[in-house]
Amino acid sequence: MKLLKDYILNNGKSINSKVLKVDSFLNHQIDPVLMMKIGEEFKRRFEGEKINKILTIEASGIAIGLAAAYAFNVPLVFAKKKVPSTMDDFYTTQVFSFTKNKDYTICIGKEFLNKEDRILIVDDFLAMGNAVLGLKKLVENAGGKVIGAGIAITKGFQDGENILKENGIRVESLAVVDSLENGEIHFR
Ligand code: G4P
Ligand code: NA
Ligand code: NA
Repeated sequence: MKLLKDYILNNGKSINSKVLKVDSFLNHQIDPVLMMKIGEEFKRRFEGEKINKILTIEASGIAIGLAAAYAFNVPLVFAKKKVPSTMDDFYTTQVFSFTKNKDYTICIGKEFLNKEDRILIVDDFLAMGNAVLGLKKLVENAGGKVIGAGIAITKGFQDGENILKENGIRVESLAVVDSLENGEIHFR
C-alpha cells in the first residue's frame, strides 16, 4: 500500500535493526485518514470473503481494527491483556512476546465469540506471529473460523509471516519491511 509506505518513509524511524518506530501516526499519535484508508484496503483485499467480525488486541490494534470494522460494516472485538474484574466467563490464553521477551495473557468474554464467527484478525505489526496465533486459538475455542490476518506492517526479516501461513492463515500485509539496517528502511 503506497500511502502507508510513504508514511513509514516520511515519518518512521528505525531505532535499531529490529524495531521500527511509528509513534507519529500509528502507535502514539494516530492519523485518522491513514487508518480509514487501511481499513478500506483490507476490505478490498478480502473482497468476496464472508467476514462477520474484526478481531484484534488492545492497545494499538484498536485504531486499525475500528477502521477495518467500519469498512466491513461489522463489529470490532479486541482481546484484553488483563482479565477485567467484571468479566466472569471468558476465553483466555498466554502469548509470548518476542519483542518484549515475556508472556502476557489475552482474554475475550465468551459472549463476543461464537461458532458462527468468520473472523478477520488485524494488527499493527507482525513480528513472530504469536499475537495472531493466540487470537486464532481463542476463535477456535469458541468454534469459529479465522478467514485471514490483515497486518499493517510486517517485519519480513522475522518469521511471523511464514509461521502464520504454515498454520493455514491467509496473511495480507500492507507494508513488508525487509530491512532496517543502518537507519534505512527497505521494503520488499
Ligand atoms: P508477534 O505477536 O508478531 O509475535 O509480535 P511481538 O509479540 O513480538 O510484538 C509485541 C508488541 O510489539 C506488539 O505490541 C507489537 O505490535 C509491537 N511491535 C513488534 N515489533 C514492532 C516494531 O518494530 N515497532 C513497533 N512500534 N512495535 C512493534 P503490544 O505489546 O501488543 O503493545 P500495544 O502497543 O499494542 O499495546
Ligand atoms: Na504495539
Ligand atoms: Na499490536
